Amino acid sequence: MNNLRPVGIIGTGKYVPEKILTNSDLEKMVDTNDEWIVSRTGIKERHIAAPDQATSDLAYEAAIRALESAGMTGSDLDLIIVATITPDSSFPSTACILQDKLGAKGAAAFDLSAACSGFVYGLATATSFIQSGMYNNALVIGADCLSRITDYTDRNTCVLFGDGAGAVVVGEVPQGRGFKAFDLGAEGAGGSLLQIEGGGSRLPASAETVENKKHYIYMNGREVFKFAVRVMGTATIEVLRKAGMDRTDVDLFVPHQANVRIIQSAMQRLELPEEKVVVNVDKYANTSAASIPLALVEAAEEGRMKAGDTVLMVGFGGGLTWGASVLVW
Ligand SMILES: CC(C)(COP(=O)(O)OP(=O)(O)OC[C@H]1O[C@@H](n2cnc3c(N)ncnc32)[C@H](O)[C@@H]1OP(=O)(O)O)[C@@H](O)C(=O)NCCC(=O)NCCS
Repeated sequence: MNNLRPVGIIGTGKYVPEKILTNSDLEKMVDTNDEWIVSRTGIKERHIAAPDQATSDLAYEAAIRALESAGMTGSDLDLIIVATITPDSSFPSTACILQDKLGAKGAAAFDLSAACSGFVYGLATATSFIQSGMYNNALVIGADCLSRITDYTDRNTCVLFGDGAGAVVVGEVPQGRGFKAFDLGAEGAGGSLLQIEGGGSRLPASAETVENKKHYIYMNGREVFKFAVRVMGTATIEVLRKAGMDRTDVDLFVPHQANVRIIQSAMQRLELPEEKVVVNVDKYANTSAASIPLALVEAAEEGRMKAGDTVLMVGFGGGLTWGASVLVW
C-alpha cells in the first residue's frame, strides 16, 4: 500500500440520540442489576433513538459534522458508504437517502453489511476506490439503531446495545500519513451465533415470525465472546505485520466497544497501557457499526491523537466478521 496515493481521514463527526437508558432503567424492565451489567460488560448507559428517528437521521447528523470539520459540503463528495445492519428499510439504501439529504448530487452511494466490523470494511473500501483514482472524497459512516432490533424482554441481549452514528471523510493526505494496512476477514460458518433470522428472503416477515421473535437479535454470548477475544488479538497482530510495524508503534488503540472485558483481553495480549486505549462502552454500549467511529471521533475531539500518531482500529461482529486498520493520523 505504501507506493499508492496516500489516503486518510480528513474530517470527523459523531452523533448520539438524546435519550439515555441507564442500567437502573433496565432493572425496571428485566431481571437484571447494575452490578451484573457493569462487572460483566463495563456498560453503564446507552443512548436510544427517538421514535421518529431512523438510522439515516443519526447518520445525517454525524455526516454534517464530519463534512464541516473537513471544510466540505455534500457536493464535494463522490462516494458515500453507510455501514449498517439497521437500514431505514431494505431499499433504497440508507446511503442513497443520505446522498439526497446531503446534496451529494451524482455521488455513488451504497450500504455495506458487515455488522460491527462494517466501519473498518467501509474504510478499506473507500481507501481502495480513492487509491485507484476512481474517486477523490468519500464519506464513510457507521450508523445503527440497534434498539429497533433488540428484544427488551431478553436480559441476555437488551443490556448490551445502544444507538449512534460516527462519520469520517476519507481523502488524499500528505505523504507518510494515512492508512498503512487493512486486515479484513470472515468466518461465515459462525453466522448463526449472532443473527436476525426473520425478515429476509429465507424467512420473510409474517405473523408467525413476529410472534416467534424472529426479527430480534439472537446471540450466543459465550461463543461470540471467545471469537471476539481470539480475533481481536490475531487481526491486530496481522494488520501490524502488514504495515511493517509492531505493537510498540501503536499510539492509540481504538477497539470495537462491545464489552470492556474483551477490550482488556486485547490490551493484555498486546501489552498496551490504559492511556493508549479508547474505551467509551460505559456511555454508549455496543452501537455495532457506529462503535469504532464513535470511539475514534470522541478521541479526536478530546485531542488524544496528534499528526503522525499511529492509530489502530479493530472490530469484530456478526457474519462472523472482523476488520482492522493501521492509520497514521
Ligand atoms: C453476553 C455476556 C456479557 C455474558 O457474560 P458471561 O460472563 O459470558 O455470562 P454467562 O453467559 O456466563 O451468563 C451468566 C449468567 O448470567 C445470566 N444473565 C445474562 N444476562 C443477564 C443480565 N442482563 N442480568 C443478570 N443476569 C444475566 C445468564 O442467564 C446466566 O445465568 P445462568 O448461569 O443461571 O444461566 C458475554 O458473554 C459477552 O459479552 N459476549 C459477547 C457479546 C458481544 O460482544 N456481542 C456483540 C458482538 S459484536
